[in-house]
Amino acid sequence: MSIVNNKRGSQEKVAVVTGSSSGIGFETSLLLARKGFYTFATMRNLNKSQKIKDIAKNENLSLKVLQLDVTDDKSVKDAFRQINDESSRIDVLVNNAGYGVIGAVEEMSLDEFKSQFETNFFGVIRVTKEVIPIMRNQGNGNIINVSSVGGKIGIPLNSAYISSKFALEGLSESMRYELAQFGIDVILIEPGVVKTNFFENADVVINNNATTNNNKTSAYSQLNQKLFEGFKPMLNSSASSVSSDVAEVIYQAIGSTNRQVRYPVGKDAVSIFKMRQKLSDKEFENWIKESIFHKKSFIN
Ligand SMILES: NC(=O)c1ccc[n+]([C@@H]2O[C@H](COP(=O)([O-])OP(=O)(O)OC[C@H]3O[C@@H](n4cnc5c(N)ncnc54)[C@H](OP(=O)(O)O)[C@@H]3O)[C@@H](O)[C@H]2O)c1
Repeated sequence: MSIVNNKRGSQEKVAVVTGSSSGIGFETSLLLARKGFYTFATMRNLNKSQKIKDIAKNENLSLKVLQLDVTDDKSVKDAFRQINDESSRIDVLVNNAGYGVIGAVEEMSLDEFKSQFETNFFGVIRVTKEVIPIMRNQGNGNIINVSSVGGKIGIPLNSAYISSKFALEGLSESMRYELAQFGIDVILIEPGVVKTNFFENADVVINNNATTNNNKTSAYSQLNQKLFEGFKPMLNSSASSVSSDVAEVIYQAIGSTNRQVRYPVGKDAVSIFKMRQKLSDKEFENWIKESIFHKKSFIN
């Protein structure tokens, strides 16, 4: 990757990361800065910026925090105006910001579905559209889209989240063809379970809109309970990952001379994809049911 002077007169490569207030985005921003990238660690709520700022200051890292809400046109434009004022290039964009909605299709409002897509899918497009012209002009760049195992397989009561990540996978695959001619690579990161705030931050709509039974309890509460019980051990399983594992995979992928299109992260993710390839659709469905509802490990 050729490097030109940026507007600060240095030759650092430049990275932009969304959703840097916690979890994978937090660790990725720090790792890229530690590895020498001038990193714009963006987040929607600057009240959450103190920790990353303190670490960056203590370690003397080239890391700047900027406000960026991926669902807000003005916020995205303002952030890139500031980035462009400081830097004439962007080498890496990590589209990481995202959250999950848990609920049955029947009980979720269309607005809840739309909000999920507004962040996890349209948010990626909104940010990526700011970056493409810059990377196209400089003749190179890496766009890293943080998808999920859920970008390839269905999970009960996760249809909004899963479909937003399936959409992200289709978007990324298609953009690869468009952008390769300009030296821009688009890759997908597909973690299994990662121990972050993701599960606490998930928007659980089960029982809130309990309109499917006459007695006003959700028709899906039993399924939800089974899912919850099934997922609990996975959060503590050694097969799952921590944020720094995902950050490391992102960093390694950026530097790779033989870059893959997709990077599963975690033993759980690797095992799930292996089984997906090996089994028929129905066999795979049964294996997923067994793994989740009978609390068997995803590792095979
Ligand atoms: N944890 C997992 O098991 C797992 C597995 C596979 C994929 N992923 C994916 O990994 C990515 C990061 O999640 P995480 O596990 O690190 O969870 P996390 O700790 O909850 O972090 C999510 C980040 O996204 C930010 N965010 C949410 N909505 C946003 C918006 N509208 N604009 C800007 N930022 C926004 C959050 O900001 P606030 O702090 O302001 O809420 C937070 O910084 C997500 O795309 C998720 O789908 C996670």
